[in-house]
Amino acid sequence: MDISVNTESQKLLTAHRGIPSQAPENTLSGIRLAAQLGARWIELDTQLSKDRTPVVMHDETLDRTTSGSGLLREKTLDELRMLDTGEWYKPEYSGELFPVLEEVLEECKKLDLTLNLELKLYPACDPAALVERVIELIQENEFPLEKLLLSSFSRDALIRCRELMPQLRRGFISEEADFGLNGVLKEIDPYSIHLDHRVLTPEIARDIKGAGTVLAIWTMNEPEKAESFFNMGVDNIITDMIDQF
Ligand code: G3P
Ligand code: MG
Repeated sequence: MDISVNTESQKLLTAHRGIPSQAPENTLSGIRLAAQLGARWIELDTQLSKDRTPVVMHDETLDRTTSGSGLLREKTLDELRMLDTGEWYKPEYSGELFPVLEEVLEECKKLDLTLNLELKLYPACDPAALVERVIELIQENEFPLEKLLLSSFSRDALIRCRELMPQLRRGFISEEADFGLNGVLKEIDPYSIHLDHRVLTPEIARDIKGAGTVLAIWTMNEPEKAESFFNMGVDNIITDMIDQF
């Protein structure tokens, strides 16, 4: 299948957390391998360390994807950098360092990837603090804004993004179909809506597209269904297995 263009408009694929079917998620190795296997868009999750450095990891705790344990937000950057984030996946990835957002931004620039950076906010986290630190880094790094999309389940985070850097694209993530489209449009003015693919119906797709918003779905790992989602109006499929499409 031609993944870059279909008959009506550009249709895209996004490598979810890198390529977790082949390399540890949210790591530099995963980013490089996804790019090597053809990814042009990548989705990664960012959170703050205890000393407020944006780092890249999905879970609230360190247990699943690192050699450590406990809450990420209770560890300093120095403590995180002592952990291994590849060994759990496969011995050949041992020695993989806990990625900080700064080096991930550099890597995405080098590989010319478009980054969908998810602001991952667990209930005890402060949305404003994460947004402020991430935006500071983006500015310091002079990351090209046309290659960046900040996404989140957190409305508060996206509202803060809009206040601080309105020109930066925002994506609202939802696992529910009835998330209140009109309220989201008004409060967040999103570039895109990212829906759990299991709740998408043609009617919801029509409403989102009718509002002039880009429609993305996650996490869709069935290549044989891609065509019908694209035909429904989906613009971007976020998948764990970009090499299979
Ligand atoms: O960006 C959509 C998707 O990443 C949201 O779910 O849990 O994989 O971060 P999760
Ligand atoms: Mg995510």
